[in-house]
Amino acid sequence: MTATEGGGPDANASGGDESDANPTVRRTDDWDAGRLHDLADEHDTPLYVQDLDRVRENCERLLAAFPDADVRYAVKAHTGRAVLETVRDAGLDAECASAGELDRALAAGFDGDRLHYTAVNPPARDLDYVVDVAESEPALTVTAGAVDTLDRLAERGYDGRLCLRVNPGVGAGHHEKVTTGSAPKFGVPYGRAVRVARESAERFDVVGVHAHAGSGIDPDQLDSHRELVSRMGDLARELIGVEPADDAGSRGADPLDLEYVDVGGGFGVPYREDDEPLDLPAVAEATRDAVGDLGGLTLAVEPGRYVVADAGVLLTRVNTVKPTPAETVVGVDAGMTDLLRPAMYDAYHPIRNLGGADGEPAPADRGVEPATVAGPICETGDAFCTGRAMARPARGDLLAVGVAGAYGYEMANQYNSRPRPAEVALADGEASVVRRRELVADLTTVERESPGGKR
Ligand code: LLP
Repeated sequence: MTATEGGGPDANASGGDESDANPTVRRTDDWDAGRLHDLADEHDTPLYVQDLDRVRENCERLLAAFPDADVRYAVKAHTGRAVLETVRDAGLDAECASAGELDRALAAGFDGDRLHYTAVNPPARDLDYVVDVAESEPALTVTAGAVDTLDRLAERGYDGRLCLRVNPGVGAGHHEKVTTGSAPKFGVPYGRAVRVARESAERFDVVGVHAHAGSGIDPDQLDSHRELVSRMGDLARELIGVEPADDAGSRGADPLDLEYVDVGGGFGVPYREDDEPLDLPAVAEATRDAVGDLGGLTLAVEPGRYVVADAGVLLTRVNTVKPTPAETVVGVDAGMTDLLRPAMYDAYHPIRNLGGADGEPAPADRGVEPATVAGPICETGDAFCTGRAMARPARGDLLAVGVAGAYGYEMANQYNSRPRPAEVALADGEASVVRRRELVADLTTVERESPGGKR
């Protein structure tokens, strides 16, 4: 099959590179317009389209850049079964942030030794579940970032594999809301990490240390990433006794039998059409340099966005065009309930007008004008962009909101009683619905009669 048949890159479109079997980026313009029109006609809009072949390519690029590292997919970016199975087959581990994610990773066939559960203020029922799973899957690793969480694990009889999450005091990310490395919420303070790790070894099998700078790290934030990595390397060396300890408290202590140093995920992807893609091999080299000699420990990374972002688009149909003195407001049938990132982080997503409106010329032959693309939710913040120059949209046009494969469907919600959209997965030229469109009945199915009964 050709990539175009698969709905993937159109060799004639800008940004694609015919000579490169696994390009570093797939732009929104690279998707085959005809295929996207067919999918929207067949399955209606709003519709997520996720290309599993591209997910696999992204996994392959990561594995090639980090050949000696453990690469763990942060499943929170996209937990759809088809994506999880693709990532599992490609050879990545799964990093899960909740009992629900762990449950789905298990269902997708990840073995225990490829499962990593990162507890952040874990609800009791999550811990109960994870401790229960660990009994049958003892190779699973729990990562915890508070002594209180360690106590709660021990109270449940857990004495298995443990990784200590550390707050390295340095963070990065595309928005302050996703900059974690310096946020006190995450990890044991760096200055206490040696002591907590040593004390933990009396109760658990301490196998690793972990830190995550934040999400969506741009090339210009790599210094922060490097700083974090370097601190984690120092910490690991101190724990395994490779370097003399600085503080009297740990001098002479028994070295820990660590397996790995996990420096988190956060690799950024180019959302804007003219953003340069991350130079992954260079990032990998900088990471290896910064972490230094690990005395035989394995380096681990946890990318989420990088694996799935450019493998997904959200298709939406124009239903209302309203010229106003300031700009043209283009109403579409997808909104912040389907793709929350613009409303929540002011995130930029490319929007490509694929045309299709009756009696209108192809978008390329229309004028370019500033448009605000807004959804059907009764909130001002429900807009994918404001005043952005684009081929003048008309009612009936199909728009592709690009780079929507990470934290897209995953953060979709049902506000305004809006059922979540359907999702189609593409693989080997085939398209199949992997999540059906929700119905209002799905929303109300959890409702029960009020105490007063029917009045
Ligand atoms: N590891 C840990 C411990 C994390 O908390 C995260 C993301 C990752 C790895 C993966 O980060 P990534 O490689 O995907 O950047 N909803 C936000 C992103 C929140 C990310 C939270 N943690 C967004 O849409 O930008």
